[in-house]
Order: sequence, then structure tokens, then C-alpha cells
Amino acid sequence: MSSIIEKIERLIRPEIKEMQAYNVSEATGLVKLDAMENPFTWPEQMKSQWLELLAQVEPNRYPDSTAKKLVQCLRSCFGISSDLGVVLGNGSDELIQILIMAMKEGTCVMAPTPSFVMYEHIANALGVKFVGSPLSEDFSLDMPAMLEAIKTHDPAIIFLAYPNNPTANLFEDDDVLEIIRASNGVVVIDEAYQPFADKTFLDKAQDFEQLLVMRTVSKLGLAGLRLGYLVGHRSLIEQFEKIRLPYNINTFTQLTANFAFQHIDVLNAQAKLICEEREILFKKLSVLEGLQVFPSKANFLLFSLWSDSAQRVFEELKKAGILIKKMGEGQGLPPECLRVTIGSSAENERFFDTFKSILK
Ligand SMILES: Cc1ncc(COP(=O)(O)O)c(C=O)c1O
Repeated sequence: MSSIIEKIERLIRPEIKEMQAYNVSEATGLVKLDAMENPFTWPEQMKSQWLELLAQVEPNRYPDSTAKKLVQCLRSCFGISSDLGVVLGNGSDELIQILIMAMKEGTCVMAPTPSFVMYEHIANALGVKFVGSPLSEDFSLDMPAMLEAIKTHDPAIIFLAYPNNPTANLFEDDDVLEIIRASNGVVVIDEAYQPFADKTFLDKAQDFEQLLVMRTVSKLGLAGLRLGYLVGHRSLIEQFEKIRLPYNINTFTQLTANFAFQHIDVLNAQAKLICEEREILFKKLSVLEGLQVFPSKANFLLFSLWSDSAQRVFEELKKAGILIKKMGEGQGLPPECLRVTIGSSAENERFFDTFKSILK
């Protein structure tokens, strides 16, 4: 009988053996400012209405496999034209997987770097080549380099996070349009942080058949639901729909999302509050010495320390009960970078006061 090591050697693809699992930090008991979640809960009355609806769910039944009502709600809530197709994902992570899975063998996926790590992680997992094109120093798209990389590699998919994670900025619209025009493949504008940016390419999806707009409800305040949606040309969306697993959006998610979209004004007001809090924290961090905080159109702030260690600050904050994200080296970021999610006013104050007392 072969040992498990020999089995792994024989059965598992080499690129998977080399991968690291996506690490999610344990956050129990900590002020959680690491994952770009919305810190606010729902008004009591809204919560009790939702619980009444939940009580009617029949968990013994499969969910509606095409989530018809939810798609309808998404269309009317977010103004998606009936000319465009919509495919739903168990989070936009799953949509990234569906997109890459659908592409022909031998093609590649491209994204600026640094950007959302799952583009590369999922490409690696599926044995698809990932090409990263470094951003300029000011985090704008390095257009000559990007256009050259498109010419050289002819990517099947280009992902542009708009605003970008972890740099928090919006790319120039003209640059994005130039990339859409230059691409032979599809261009996915990942609008995960759209609720905080007030900018979208959704209205361009009818002008360019190679343009797909991807959204998630995670940052809007529904991260626990795991729901993302991809919008684009109906013929293209139909292809992705074929490989979407039949029941990927569970009954509780469908019901809760439908309910939440009827109260979209509550979620929008929370997003507005988060933007106001972002500006307050940005100003407070900007006047501190020893760091650079970067402008943000998202619900987080990225900052780089000049004379302190990001690891040390991260650990000291954690000891004080606050979890933020230490950015890895070699991601194309300035040295000693940390990323903090905008929380409630009290959470931001606690973070700021603690950070100020820790910073050397
Ligand atoms: C740019 C970007 N896209 C997509 C996602 C994933 O979102 P979801 O929770 O829908 O999987 C994230 C999560 O942080 C993100 O930063």
C-alpha cells in the first residue's frame, strides 16, 4: 500500500501542492477591522420582520436553483437593464472561479498588481497562468506596461478591481476604457467597493460586449450571505450559467437578500456613514508623523509606516484587542503597509488612539 505522501505526489497537481491556503485570521473577541465588513447591524424592527420571514423557510427543500426572484430584485434595486444577463455566485469569489473555469486551456488571466489576491489564487488552483502587470508608484494603471502585456499575453480575462484592493483607489476611467478596447478577451470590472465609490461601469456594459461588471453584497453589509453577481452580454453570461452549480445560492441567502434589498435605503445610509467615518480617520492618520496614508474610495485605508515595523504594530494592536491586516511584502506595495477597515465611530476611535500610542 502506498504512503499518503506518495499518493499526494501521484494525484495532486504540482501547482496545488505549492499553494498556501487562503488564511483568515481568528477574530473572536477582537475589534474586527481586517476584512472590509460593514460594522453596523439592522434596526430592531427590520430584524424582527426578517426573523418572521425566516421562520417560514422550509430547510428540507432545495433552494430555487435559478433564484428568479432574487435576480429580479437585483435588477430593480441596482438598475440592471433587462438586455443584460446576470449570473449569481456564492460570493464574487465563486464568480471569479466560474469565469476562469470557463476559459479555454492555454489561455491566461491578467490583473494589475497589487490587486485582489483571489484572481491569482484561483487561477493557480485551476492550473491557469496568471500574469500580473505592476501598477505605477501612485497606484494608477501603468498604461504602457499594461498595453504591452495585453499584446504579449493576449489574456482571456483581465480583472480590474474598481476601486482596487488593497490600494483603495479608482483607476482613471479613460485608462479602463482603453484596456477594454485593447483586449481580445473579456474585461471584468470588479466593483466590490462600489457602495463607497459612487462610480460604476455598469452603464457601459451595453456598449462593450467584452465588458463584464462584477459586484458583491459583502461590503454593503451582507458578507454573511455570500452573494455576488456578474452582469454582461446575455450570450456570454449564458456560458457561465452552464457551469454555475445548480443550488449555489442557498434558501436563506435568497430570502435575506430579497428582504434586505427592500430596505436598501438602510444599507445605503450605512455606506454613507462609513464614507464619512473614512474621511474622519483619513484626516486623523494624515496628521500623524511617521506614516503615509493613501486616499481611499473604498471602506478601508491603506497606510505605510516609515520608521516602524508593520508586523510589530499589527501584533501590538492585536494584543490590545484590535485586528487589522498586515500586508505582505513583495505585493508591489511600499514597505511596512497595513490596511484597516472602516468600522463604527467608536471602533475607529479605539483603533486610532491605540495605534497612536503604539507607533514609534
Ligand atoms: C476586489 C474584491 N473583489 C471581490 C472580493 C470578494 O468578495 P466576496 O465576499 O463576494 O467573495 C473582495 C473581497 O475582499 C475584493 O476585495
